[in-house]
Amino acid sequence: MNKLVLDFSHSVGTINPNIYGHFSEHIGGVFYDGLWVGEDSGIENVHGFRKSLVDSFKKIAPPVLRWPGGCFAEIYDWRDGIGPRSQRPTRVNWWYYRDHRLESNQVGTHEFMDLCRLVGAEPYFAANMTTTTPLHIRDWIEYCNFPANSTTLAKERGANGDTEPFNVRYWGIGNENWGGGGQMTPEGCAREYLRYITIMRSLGTANLKFIMCGPDGHNVSWTRRLMQEWRSSPYHLTDTYGMSVHYYTRSSKDYDPAHIDEAEWDLVQFKAAKMKRILEDHRAAMDEFDPDRKIKLIVDEWGIWHRDGTGPSKGYNLFEQQSTMMDAVMAAQTLNLFNNRCDIVDMANVAQLCNNLHSLYLAGGEHFVETPNYHVFDLYKGHQGGRQVNALLTSEVKEKEGFAPLEMVSASASVKENVLTLTLANLDISKSQRVKLSSVEGILQGEAKVRLLHHENVSTCNTFEDPFAIMPRDCTMTVAEGMEITLPAASVMAITLPLAE
Ligand code: AHR
Repeated sequence: MNKLVLDFSHSVGTINPNIYGHFSEHIGGVFYDGLWVGEDSGIENVHGFRKSLVDSFKKIAPPVLRWPGGCFAEIYDWRDGIGPRSQRPTRVNWWYYRDHRLESNQVGTHEFMDLCRLVGAEPYFAANMTTTTPLHIRDWIEYCNFPANSTTLAKERGANGDTEPFNVRYWGIGNENWGGGGQMTPEGCAREYLRYITIMRSLGTANLKFIMCGPDGHNVSWTRRLMQEWRSSPYHLTDTYGMSVHYYTRSSKDYDPAHIDEAEWDLVQFKAAKMKRILEDHRAAMDEFDPDRKIKLIVDEWGIWHRDGTGPSKGYNLFEQQSTMMDAVMAAQTLNLFNNRCDIVDMANVAQLCNNLHSLYLAGGEHFVETPNYHVFDLYKGHQGGRQVNALLTSEVKEKEGFAPLEMVSASASVKENVLTLTLANLDISKSQRVKLSSVEGILQGEAKVRLLHHENVSTCNTFEDPFAIMPRDCTMTVAEGMEITLPAASVMAITLPLAE
C-alpha cells in the first residue's frame, strides 16, 4: 500500500505562481492561426485573438507568458512588429528551413501585450542576443517601459496606440545559445550576456529582471563554466534575475502518440522524472558561484516532444502533436516536482501553448480543443502562490535500466488561504494505485472537492470531431485521517480541502 503523510509544519517555501508559466513562439501554427486569427476573421475573436482560446486560457490564471521564441527570438527584430499591421514586413522565419512558412509580423509587441492583458499574464520577452546589438535591445526596453511621452521611443509607442508603459520586467537575453542561438561556448555566452547587460545599466533598470541562457537538459558542465565566467565580471549582478534551463522529454522517433503502449509510456515517465536531478544538479553547480542564491533557476522550456506531424494539421503546423493522458500524467508529475522543489525553481514555461509541442490547445479554422494537458493546469491552479506542504510519500516503484527507480505515485501539496490543494498522479499505465492518506498533525477532515482526469482508453485524444472525450470528472469526498484513495491507472487527481481554522 502506498502511503502519503502530509507534514504541515515543514515546507520548503512558497510556490511561485510563475512555475505555472507558458510559452508562445512564432513557429508553425502557434500564432497563425492558433492564437491569432485576425480582427477581420469570421472566427470569433478579441482584438484578433481567438476568443475561445482567450476565454479558456484566462480560466487557468496564466501567470506569465514567454514570447516570441525560442529559436525565433534569435532572428527577431522587434521593429518589424510595430506600426500599422498592413505595412509590416514579411520575413523569413527562423523555422523556414523546416516548414517554408513566412513571418507576417501581424502579432508584434502591442498585440502580444494585448494578449497578456486579456488573459492576465505577465509578459516575459525573449530578446535576440545572436543577430542584433545591445543598443537595439536597449531600445526595445526603452520603447516598452519608459514613461508616457518621456523619450522619442516612448512617444512612438504612444503613437502606435499605447501611451502608458508596458512595464515588461522579464527579459531573457538569448535563447539556446549553445545551439540554434549561435553555437556559443558557455564562456562566450556569458561574455555576450555581460556585454548586453552592461549596456542596459544605463537605463537605470532597477525593475528589470534579466535571464541568462543556461544549459540544455542535464549539461551541468555548461552551467558551471557559464556561472564561473559570469561571476568574474564586476557587473554580473546587474539586474540578473535568473538562468534558464531547457529540458524536453522525447518519445521514440517512430512512436505515434495516439497509439500508446506500455513500453513507450514508461520510457516517457522515466525520462520526465529526470527533471528532479536536472534541477538539483544545476542548482548545486550554481551554488558554487552564487551561494546566496541571488540567481534563480528558470525552466523556460519543458514538455513532451513527440515526432512531428501527429496533430490535426497532419504536419502543416511544425511540431504540432496529438495529446493524450500520457502528456497529462507527465505534466502532472513534472508540476508536482516543481512544487516540491519550489525552493530552487522560480519560473517554468511549458512548451508550447497551441498547435505545437505538449500544447494546451489545438486549433485551426473554426475548430478549437482543450487538450488533457490543459486540464492538468486547470486541476493544479490552486497551487499558485500556495505554501508548499511536505508530502512524505512511500510508493511502489518501477525499475528500468539506465534510470533511477520511478515512484508510481507522484504527489504534491500546498496551502493557500487555509485551503489544502493536494495533487496526485498515477504513473502506472496498467493498474490502479491505492494511497493511504494521513497527516502528522492529524488535521485531515472535512468535505473535499475532487477532480479526476482519466480515461479507460489511454490513447484517447480530444479531437476536433470529439473535443470533450477527456474531461475532468468532479465529485465530493469526505476526508478523514488514514483514508484510502484509489487512483485509476494513468490518472491525475486534485483534492481541495478547506482546513479547520
Ligand atoms: O519549442 C521549440 C524549440 O525548442 C524552441 O524554439 C527552442 O528553444 C527549442 O529547441
